[in-house]
Amino acid sequence: MSSFDSRVQAVAWQDDGVRLLDQRRLPVEVSYLHLGTVDEVATAIRDMVVRGAPAIGITAAYAVVLAARAAFKRDPDHWRDIVPADLERLAAARPTAVNLAWAIHEMNAVFARCHGDPEPQLLARAQQIHEDDIRANRTMGELGCEVIADARAVLTHCNAGALATGGYGTALGVVRSARARGALERVFVSETRPWLQGARLTAWELMQDEIPVTLIADTAASHLLGTGQVQWVIVGADRIAANGDVANKIGTCQLAIAARYHGVRFMVAAPVSTIDCAMANGAGIPIEERPEREVLACLERPSAPPDCTAWNPAFDITPAALIDVIVTESGVVEAPDREKIQALLSC
Ligand code: MRU
Repeated sequence: MSSFDSRVQAVAWQDDGVRLLDQRRLPVEVSYLHLGTVDEVATAIRDMVVRGAPAIGITAAYAVVLAARAAFKRDPDHWRDIVPADLERLAAARPTAVNLAWAIHEMNAVFARCHGDPEPQLLARAQQIHEDDIRANRTMGELGCEVIADARAVLTHCNAGALATGGYGTALGVVRSARARGALERVFVSETRPWLQGARLTAWELMQDEIPVTLIADTAASHLLGTGQVQWVIVGADRIAANGDVANKIGTCQLAIAARYHGVRFMVAAPVSTIDCAMANGAGIPIEERPEREVLACLERPSAPPDCTAWNPAFDITPAALIDVIVTESGVVEAPDREKIQALLSC
């Protein structure tokens, strides 16, 4: 491992099950859950033990192995008939991140060629999905850091790092690659209310790798962009529509609006598995609504009057027109639109 690799591993296949770093407990405690059934994994995804679109996809791929193993044990001749109901529950765990459905689809494609015990073949595919993701992140890192060239500081939102992927990260992969080249002095991180992915996860992850971090309240972002301290906003994506509209953590769109107003460039880094060609534009992307209690409390303490109501959409849509660059492992798309996304995918 070079000094610019991430030391953080969110998902691993270990001891015949899925080991997840419990992200609900960070940064206070580094602890792991070891899960042996598909339903345990579905619950862990819903409860945000693991989060971030690529990490959710990889975890789901391993969960398919667990589902097939249990079904094969129950009925070796008809395991294929048993698994779909399990996978439906898994797919419903979080609706916005398309990597979840993508990974299940990829694993399903292996079913037909499985003879005998499906576990070794499915596990091989899940591990390949995991390794491909890390490779894609490294490529995005290289491509992205060329684009931000001599930026001194960037702002990122939520967590699109090693914790959200197979390793290395998408937005934070660009940061890591830039740091490896001796570029980039500082990363500003917005707290990302209500779940505080920025404060709890991104700040922690970057500090593990000794990357200089400055945390800001979400409400300070536009002011920061107006000060000229930041040259790029870099974020990940949960789903990219065929026209380049991007679903990402709630608050991303307001950052893109503020960045355009202040003349700061806006980058989305995401693997091609996050592009949903079947989704014509962002309007059709399902936006997960999470429990009110996440807004009504902060760090499990009430932050609003009792009986107050709240609305908690977990993602928003940033129109392609506000995005300067989308970086994928297949290439960089400037000023994304339908034609350019189509050209990227057919290359
Ligand atoms: O609710 P989360 O924490 O799963 O949301 C994560 C994000 O919005 C990330 O930016 C996105 O999944 C990309 S992760 C590489």
